[in-house]
Formats: sequence, structure tokens, C-alpha cells
Amino acid sequence: MRPLILALTLALAVPAIALPASATGPEHGPEHGHHRVDDLRDLARKLHISIGSAVDVAALRAEPDYQARLNREFDHITAENAMKWESVEPERGVYAWEDADEVVRNARRHGQQVRGHTLVWHNQLPAWLTGGVEDGTIDATELRKILRDHVTTQVRRYKGKIRAWDVVNEALNEDGTMRQSIWLTHLGPGYIADAFRWARRADPRAKLYLNDYNVEWNAPKIEGTLNLIKELRAQRVPIDGMGFQGHLGIQYDYPGDWANVMRRFADLGLEIAVTELDVRMVLPVTPEKLATQAEYYGRALSDCLSVRACREFTVWGFTDRHSWVPGWFDGEGSACLLDENLAPKPAYDTLLTTRRVSGP
Ligand code: G3I
Repeated sequence: MRPLILALTLALAVPAIALPASATGPEHGPEHGHHRVDDLRDLARKLHISIGSAVDVAALRAEPDYQARLNREFDHITAENAMKWESVEPERGVYAWEDADEVVRNARRHGQQVRGHTLVWHNQLPAWLTGGVEDGTIDATELRKILRDHVTTQVRRYKGKIRAWDVVNEALNEDGTMRQSIWLTHLGPGYIADAFRWARRADPRAKLYLNDYNVEWNAPKIEGTLNLIKELRAQRVPIDGMGFQGHLGIQYDYPGDWANVMRRFADLGLEIAVTELDVRMVLPVTPEKLATQAEYYGRALSDCLSVRACREFTVWGFTDRHSWVPGWFDGEGSACLLDENLAPKPAYDTLLTTRRVSGP
């Protein structure tokens, strides 16, 4: 089916139309309709979506150029690690909110909306929790209470300050079955419905998301996730959105069906977000690889723009100076929009020239 709205990426090579300086505003920034686009925040305004980035809180505190660029470019942010369970409750009952608070405080000061990441996950759990479950000092009844308290405490703390929460992160395996996490093993599949209900109670206005990777293209995972959401909906579980992480690599084909996949989730009545986009490459960097990367970033934004329900487009870090990729994928890197010195790569310029256009 042909969508009413199509998104079109103009290649960087397309020359900006020369208009009198008085009509074009600032001297920098590509042409965008009748206006020039100066940065991603400006682009977000013109496209009527939010454009976000994950935030490294140590860099936010220590690097003025990082902080200035983050606040100039983005109108939406996600804490990369600061809101994860091991960060906020490193010892049982001992909370450490400083980093998460700092991320939220900075966002509010700069008019940025916040995605809370993440309440229920199998990774980055505190050692007291995993250890207690393993040695049997925390039984299933207690574990459920611990999870309820965690969700409630964290969501309440930021009530009214978080636009959307990644309530449950990465719940499924690649074959579409439920992941054997400590949550599934000890609490059964009902932990997902419970977490969404507890989160809704704690902040009725926050949008509540399921968030996962490879749902951009992996058929069994797509079907499994759709079925899970249908079941949750049938049980009147308050789920509002589906987050597509979007960790891509140019050595793989671009997930060409992504817009259709987004539409299938949107058809269930869900809001859609691209929550963690990055596009890595096998090093060394070459101009050709950067051009392919730019194309992937542009297509991802175009895909989001082609689905009315897609309202947030967030990258997982904006500079190669702070990217999770080199630490996780041997010999790969350069996944972000800006390089280590915060110089824009072709991908950045491609985003600035991406626009929403009416279909034929
Ligand atoms: O905090 C410790 C620090 O005390 C220690 O000195 C240092 C030495 O290794 O490690 C620090 O912890 C690291 C943590 O990031 C904070 O920087 C961990 O080793 C490291 O494993 C951890 O990686 C994070 C990863 O999630 C963990 O699963 C990445 O930064 C973060 O980008 C990544 O984000 C995930 C999303 O949450 C979910 N989707 C996938 C995405 C990429 O993996």
C-alpha cells in the first residue's frame, strides 16, 4: 500500500538553491523547503518530531564542548546508563540518583524531553540482586516485590519529567520466544504485564514502551513481539509504544522493510520511536563507508517520517568520542553522527537535508 506521506532524503550532493541572503537566514545549514536548517533541533522543529541522543553523564559533567553540542542539537535525551538498575540502586535500599538526576536536570534546563531507560532488563542489574537470586536468599515472592518497588520508586521519582519509559527492554529471543531472564525464570511471563501496570500507576501520563533490537528486520522476532503486544492489549495492559533500537552496521544490508514493520506496530494503536540508532562500520573509515553510513541514517529518518505514529528519532550517542561500539565489536567503530572532535560526518548533513514530502 502506498503511504500518503512519503519521506525523501536528498543526497548531500544536491546543491542548495541559492536565495538572497535575506531570505536564507544564517549562512550555514542546508536548504530545507523555504528555510535553512541550522542543526538537528531546528530540523526536529520543522519535521514535527523529536530528535534525541543518549547521554553519557560523565561527559556531560566534564566536557563543556560535549554538553554544548548535546544541548544545541537535541530536543530529547535518554540516559545511556545512568537510569539502569545497577546505577540507581548499587546496594540494596541504597539509592544513587545523582547521575540520573543530573541528566534530567540538564534536560529540563534546555527544554529537552526525556526517555527513561530502562526499568526491567536482564543486563546491568545490581550484584546484590543477581547474587541473591542465585544463592536463594531472594525467593520468587520477594523478587516480585523487589521489582514492584524498583519500578514504582523510579517512575515516581521522575513523575511528570519523563515523556516515555522503556518499561521492558529486550524481552524476546531472536526466534521470537521469551528470553530466559531472571524475570521469566522466577516470575513467569506475567512480569511484563505487572511492570507496565506498576509503571502506569506510578506516573499515569508517561508513555510506556516495550523496547528491543533487531525488530527492524528479524521476522520471528517481529511476529513474536507483535503477538506479545496483542496479548498484553487483550489483557488491558497499559502499553503505549514500541521502541526500535536500530543498532545497524553498514556491513549488513539496510533493513529495507523497516517502515512497513513500524506500520504494523502502529496499526495496533501504538506510538513508535527509533530509540537507539547507530550505524557502525568495520574500521578503517573510508569516504565510501561514510557515504553508506549517511545513506543508512537518512533512510532510518525517512522510514520514521513515513509512519505517522513515529514521533521520536533518537541516536545512541552523537559522537564517536563516547560510543559503546568499539568496546563491544572488535575492529568496528565510527558509528555516530559526529567524529571524536565533534566534526559532523556526511550522515549528519544527510539528516539535515531529509524532509517530509507529500506523496504523489
Ligand atoms: O561503570 C563501570 C565503571 O565503574 C568501570 O570502571 C568501567 C570499566 O569497564 O565499566 C563501567 O561500566 C560500563 C558501563 O557501560 C558504564 O560505562 C560497563 O563496563 C559497560 O559494559 C557498559 O556498557 C553499556 C551497555 O549498554 C551494557 O549492556 C553501554 O555503555 C551502553 O551503551 C549499552 O546500551 C545498551 C542499551 O542500554 C540497550 N540496548 C543496547 C545498547 C547497546 O548495548
